[in-house]
Amino acid sequence: MEPSGLGAGPPKHTPLSPYSKTIVEGTLPVDSGVDAGLSASFDQENYGDHIIQVHGDDDSSFSDEGYDGSDASSFLSSILSEVRRGVEVEGRIYPSYGKHEYGMPMDEKELDRNDLQHHKYTLLLGDKLYIAPILDSQLNHANARVLDLGTGTGIWAIDMADRFPSAQIIGVDIAPTQPSFVPPNCIFEIDDVEEDWPYRPAHFDFVHGRDLMTAVRDWPRLISQAYTHLKPGGWIQLASTIPEVNSDDNTIPPNSGYVEASRLYFEMAEKMGAPLDAPRSWGEQMRNSGFTNVQDVVYKLPMGAWARSKRLRTVGRLELLMISDGGFEAYMLRGYIQILKGRPEDLQIILALARREVKDPNMHTNVQFHVTYGRKPE
Ligand SMILES: C[S@@+](CC[C@H](N)C(=O)[O-])C[C@H]1O[C@@H](n2cnc3c(N)ncnc32)[C@H](O)[C@@H]1O
Repeated sequence: MEPSGLGAGPPKHTPLSPYSKTIVEGTLPVDSGVDAGLSASFDQENYGDHIIQVHGDDDSSFSDEGYDGSDASSFLSSILSEVRRGVEVEGRIYPSYGKHEYGMPMDEKELDRNDLQHHKYTLLLGDKLYIAPILDSQLNHANARVLDLGTGTGIWAIDMADRFPSAQIIGVDIAPTQPSFVPPNCIFEIDDVEEDWPYRPAHFDFVHGRDLMTAVRDWPRLISQAYTHLKPGGWIQLASTIPEVNSDDNTIPPNSGYVEASRLYFEMAEKMGAPLDAPRSWGEQMRNSGFTNVQDVVYKLPMGAWARSKRLRTVGRLELLMISDGGFEAYMLRGYIQILKGRPEDLQIILALARREVKDPNMHTNVQFHVTYGRKPE
């Protein structure tokens, strides 16, 4: 796939986090992890020998012997502009960085969806950023470090930085879609989490990854890297929706567009080598890597405002809003065209049917949200 050359530029995004009201508006990913990492700081304490990209406050300490700023600058700036621009497929912009092509966009519409998802998941977990039983004292001190894998807009990392101001929160992503104006203890980096992690062993107190479906092919390797880079006593938490449509009262219509969309999504993810039911194996994979206290908690995530509890009705409304406002398309468009070799107009017909169905208040569907956590023994 070729870069589009459309020059769409980086998305401009303002985080919506309730915890991040103090953050200045008009955030520009131009100045996020990639740029700052290459021109600014190098936090020697965090990394092993081969790190190159870090975004931090102190730009006086960049000191990589192998780095020659002047010779590398035009090479780097051309890579940077490609990473920022991404690639365009059928009007959506996708990340161009990373070992594998990623199926979800990184444009403004996707960033808004990402933030909406954050509110939905936080609410689903009972107004919590995570459910792993980590003591506040473990994250409330100056040596505490948290790593957020595939951080997206960085909204979770920013909320964590506000909640634990002494801790250092690092958000990493292949897409430069994070804001520049963030709490001083939050930094963003551009990297592929499927590659070797550049951090020191036993460095983090908490490794977190949410909604990384189709982002990760090799979960056992990722979990084992987390184990290596966690301190003894540190925690991992992975969370994701499994987009398989269920209904407790059999209200899914026959020949459902929603079910067909879900079937196609599973098929394309399988072909990508990133099966969507991967969360069901996380618990076992964590135990195999040496984690203890492993728990797999499965939430029912309702679609629409039909649930009894007020909180779940709000969750259902947010899910409905997300899906009916382009969520299906975000998940499926690129894979449908490039992996299943389908025509975009055919997908639009299936998605239009699915969108109409999910707005029907008589249809009561849900998907599962899996949260799995574990602890590295002391
Ligand atoms: C659906 S978003 C979820 C964002 C965030 N975790 C959240 O829950 O708010 C998935 C993110 O993973 C990133 N991603 C995909 N593959 C990746 C990889 N191999 N390494 C790092 N980030 C990746 C994408 O660019 C995207 O920002």
